[in-house]
Amino acid sequence: MSKKILVTDDEELFLSQLEHTLSSAYYNVILARNGADALSKIASENVDLVISDFKMPVMDGLELLHHIRERYYHIPVIIMTAYGTIDLAVSTMKEGATDFLIKPFSAEHLNFVVGRIFNHQRVLEENRMLKKRIEERYSLSNIIGKNHKMQRIYETVSIVAPTDATVLITGETGTGKDLLTQAVHANSHRKDKPFVKVDCGSLSESLLESELFGHEKGSFTNAYKQRIGRFEYANGGTVFLDEIGELTTSLQVKLLRVLEEKRFERVGSNRTIEVDVRIIAATNRDLKEDLRQGKFRRDLFYRLNVIHIEVPPLRERVNDIPLLIDHFVRFFNTKLGKSIKGVSPFALKAMMDYSWPGNVRELENVLEKAIILQKGDMLETIEHPDIEDTCGRENGQSNYHLPFREARNKVIEEFERGYISNLLEMSEGNISMASRNAGIDYKTFYEKIRHLNIDPSEYKRPA
Ligand SMILES: Nc1ncnc2c1ncn2[C@@H]1O[C@H](COP(=O)(O)OP(=O)(O)OP(=O)(O)O)[C@@H](O)[C@H]1O
Ligand SMILES: [Mg+2]
Repeated sequence: MSKKILVTDDEELFLSQLEHTLSSAYYNVILARNGADALSKIASENVDLVISDFKMPVMDGLELLHHIRERYYHIPVIIMTAYGTIDLAVSTMKEGATDFLIKPFSAEHLNFVVGRIFNHQRVLEENRMLKKRIEERYSLSNIIGKNHKMQRIYETVSIVAPTDATVLITGETGTGKDLLTQAVHANSHRKDKPFVKVDCGSLSESLLESELFGHEKGSFTNAYKQRIGRFEYANGGTVFLDEIGELTTSLQVKLLRVLEEKRFERVGSNRTIEVDVRIIAATNRDLKEDLRQGKFRRDLFYRLNVIHIEVPPLRERVNDIPLLIDHFVRFFNTKLGKSIKGVSPFALKAMMDYSWPGNVRELENVLEKAIILQKGDMLETIEHPDIEDTCGRENGQSNYHLPFREARNKVIEEFERGYISNLLEMSEGNISMASRNAGIDYKTFYEKIRHLNIDPSEYKRPA
């Protein structure tokens, strides 16, 4: 649909020239002879842009601009004048004009200025839509589950999100801890500020320390340049400390100080930095057991545990399985361009009987694979080594169906992949730096990367 431009000027000839220029560029043009006339037309038509002369009888351009800014703040306004001085241009822009044209101007210049404004508006609109989509993604209505424990969790999230309270989220792997954390951030007043996630389990102590707090150039062997930490980067926003149970004792002390005082120092610096961050921590470990064994500090635990959300494993909310299946079937239909109607009663029963050690993530993955492979419009059977023959709901370890060697290799491979990827992330794809940090020689490290099919170039950041 073509954009509607209202042009207002008291010079009849000039007005018709502008009308001709803009209509030739396929804009829909409306004319007004003075400010008052313009205002009444803006009230009745959906105007996208106003181009107004500065000097006009009845109501001049500046007064018109004031009225538009008061009532229709979103409509851009270009002011034209023959008495153009830089001062006048600046003061008009200060009053809220979007741009300024000095008469006489060419048709090309007019089209350029108008085009620039509409382009800018389009970018803003796209940004707004994107943000809205992200907010919808993490709005609570997209977290599926009618199970009462889940309902209580949503309630807690909506009450707690707008506050700055520290939240501790615990639960097995794949239960939705990440999703809930993002929901807390998205429903807080910090939603337009950074959301920064740090995986405390995948880095060595010194790497994690500099990741969190930043470091000064030369503060340790590989500190080639100064780097700000995640706490600093997240200022005003939320820091999500995932796998908090993996923090070493010395980092636990440092984190405690951030929680208590919102202050810290970069590694290798004496300067104290203050930040305003909200902290959310998550873990799939039993922190209470770690407390008993003295692995986790009590004072830190109490600081983190202001609000505690315990997400139940999927096998404890079997009633949500049909809803989740429905949700993922629709999601993957859209993503993969399929039109699967649902799952057969047989497959549904098999899935409801299964213990889902990988929880919702495992269900999501199983469904994605099934939908990719499915030719008909119903999922009749689900291909999964454990699904059809699980009888109980015992918390099965997902590797128990494998022979010992295979199971062990699988665990090792999973670990190596995470560890190496994170080192490459830290070194921005630099293999020698990553291998030094891992404490293994370049050749062995390189072999592992190849074996795991990891592409180091993916970790390079654009210059
Ligand atoms: N209630 C839910 N509704 C819809 N999708 C969900 C729900 N819970 C989890 N998911 C999806 O399951 C996957 C795993 O969830 P998430 O990453 O939040 O788990 P997690 O608890 O953080 O796991 P881990 O401990 O392994 O980090 C994600 O794709 C997430 O979108
Ligand atoms: Mg997670």
